[in-house]
Amino acid sequence: MPAPKPQRVLVAEAAIAARVAELARAIARDYAGENPVLVGVLQGAVPFVADLMRALPIDVTVDFIRASSYGAGTSSSGRVRLVADLAVEVADRHVLIVDDIVDTGLTLAALKRTLEARRPRSVRTCVLLDKAGRRETDVTIDYVGFTIPNVFVVGYGLDYGGLYRNLPYVAALDVT
Ligand code: PRP
Repeated sequence: MPAPKPQRVLVAEAAIAARVAELARAIARDYAGENPVLVGVLQGAVPFVADLMRALPIDVTVDFIRASSYGAGTSSSGRVRLVADLAVEVADRHVLIVDDIVDTGLTLAALKRTLEARRPRSVRTCVLLDKAGRRETDVTIDYVGFTIPNVFVVGYGLDYGGLYRNLPYVAALDVT
């Protein structure tokens, strides 16, 4: 069966670019004189990290981490497995976790706990899309691109069955 096609653009390419520039200005202001570690969460965060890092006029270190929940049926348990770890040490560093979307919050909460255990100077979070209505755990998102409704979204890193990560915009997909 062919994959469903994205129906409508939710966040256009130009809107993403404008918001990324604003987020970068806020991050650059907050981390002025520091050299934070941007921790991109694979795979979805790749386009966002790529754009955000190039918009930042401060020194940053960029690395990636990969997490996997134990599947839809058990995700509410909050168990998140680290599939690939960072190469850099974050002890005594400022850490900014960068992800494409926060949904239940379980992934970010678990990653935050994991990285906080490594004695960094700070851990903050930055997401492009916040499905605020879906939160199952309390996790502070320090920088939010857009708050979106509870619709299935693809593009700009987000996939449906491995497809559509390469779209330069965020689109809604009717998967029912
Ligand atoms: C997505 C997204 C976040 C997480 C958010 O990743 O990139 O990391 O889910 O969901 P949560 O707030 O409910 O934990 P996904 O597991 O789909 O992996 P991917 O980025 O490789 O597509």
